[in-house]
Amino acid sequence: MKVAVIGTGHVGLVTAVAMAAIGHDVVGSDTDEGKISLLQRGIPPYYEPGLEQALEENMAAGRLSFSSTTEEAVRDAEIVFICVSTPPRPDGEANLLYVEQSAADVARHAPDGAVVVDKSTVPAGTADRVRETLRREGKSARFEVASNPEFLREGTALQDSLEPDRIVIGVESETASRALRSLYQPLVEKGCRLIETDIRTAELAKHAGNAFLALKISFANAMAQICERAGADVTAVADVMGADARIGRAFLNAGLGYGGSCFPKDVAALERLSARLGYDFPLLRDVDALNRQAIEAAAQKIEEAVWNLEGKRLALLGLSFKPGTDDVRVSPALALARRLLAAGAHVVGYDPQAGDAARTELPELEIALSPFEAAAGAHCLVVATEWDEFGRLDLGLLKEVMLYPIVVDGRNLFDPEEMRRAGFAYYPTGRPSVLQDLSQPREFDASLGTDLVAARSPGSA
Ligand code: UDX
Repeated sequence: MKVAVIGTGHVGLVTAVAMAAIGHDVVGSDTDEGKISLLQRGIPPYYEPGLEQALEENMAAGRLSFSSTTEEAVRDAEIVFICVSTPPRPDGEANLLYVEQSAADVARHAPDGAVVVDKSTVPAGTADRVRETLRREGKSARFEVASNPEFLREGTALQDSLEPDRIVIGVESETASRALRSLYQPLVEKGCRLIETDIRTAELAKHAGNAFLALKISFANAMAQICERAGADVTAVADVMGADARIGRAFLNAGLGYGGSCFPKDVAALERLSARLGYDFPLLRDVDALNRQAIEAAAQKIEEAVWNLEGKRLALLGLSFKPGTDDVRVSPALALARRLLAAGAHVVGYDPQAGDAARTELPELEIALSPFEAAAGAHCLVVATEWDEFGRLDLGLLKEVMLYPIVVDGRNLFDPEEMRRAGFAYYPTGRPSVLQDLSQPREFDASLGTDLVAARSPGSA
């Protein structure tokens, strides 16, 4: 089929590549000409595993091209995906201006009968507004409207798009249903489940799914707090809970909490939408509050481990909002960095992909070129994002370069027993800390003081 994808961000670009990969003819468009010029040369504007190669293959096969005008992209399209951003307004509501502008452009330039599909995460009821805009701006042309929420995760986006748990199509006409079923036929043939609903249900299902996953994470983080106080282990609690098929183990990892462009925004947007519809949903406010608390708890744990934060050198491993991406939007790692910097610490961050983005977002943060450079001379090392490569670090060398061998693990990346053997005072999240006698003499810079080393359990008197 002939497909246009408006917006080449994290959702749009992957959608364009995935649609081309299953055999459709795809044109992607974006108003950011710099982005389009990169894409026309086969260069993805952001890091996503496997994307560059898939881009190259599908462009070489002639199934995928890019344009800086919506007009050119939608000219022959049977299906138009709207994948533009819907950034949060200060009150938590999603800003839908780009969706409206895209709909107006589509109305002016797409052929009669095209199916216009919202893939951006939008509040329930948006498709009605899109339909209105298409009617107002479309003169004599008639368009179908549908919702097809995207569930891809950054870091595994291509795989999620090509092997999704489910495809949801929200449609209200036979024509739209037929068009979307035929678009996804190659995935359905491979065994993927397709669920058809009305449009509002599809729109709400996306918010419900993301808010529920965020709830699982916040629940795990609240349990982590209780486990720390009770001397229990939250990872084992999560294993036991997750072994119940009704609960499932995924998204019960306690740590610094969720970030990224979806969960924080979707939790707030669903809370706002509920309020607008006359339903108070305090649970969602608690989910958000617990998520913020996770950062504060980590900051206090670091302070407890090193004593005063002023003047301390803290190595922060991982700056992206999760591993496998260079995306730092609403990154818990950067929120923690901000909190530590505000308390007077000197924070040196390292990330395999997100160093540049983090520098732009938080210029006060010093960026190191390797984990060891970040750790050199540090009073404490903090794991903020659980990149695999951090789990393979040479712990002996790490201990060697650090000033105090103290690790606060905001993602429970390390094995406590291994940390004990390696000689670290180790503070995981929601698990018993590993205390060590760190009072053997080391070579200290006298100006830093030498009497702060006896590690105590955070929270202990
Ligand atoms: C999410 C949804 O998973 C996806 O379906 C939707 O389309 C977009 O939003 P994404 O934001 O890419 O995807 O990342 P995800 O893997 O869901 O992680 C979100 C955040 O939660 C990350 O900051 C991650 O570190 C955190 N997280 C995840 C936890 O803190 N604990 C967990 O157990 C799982």
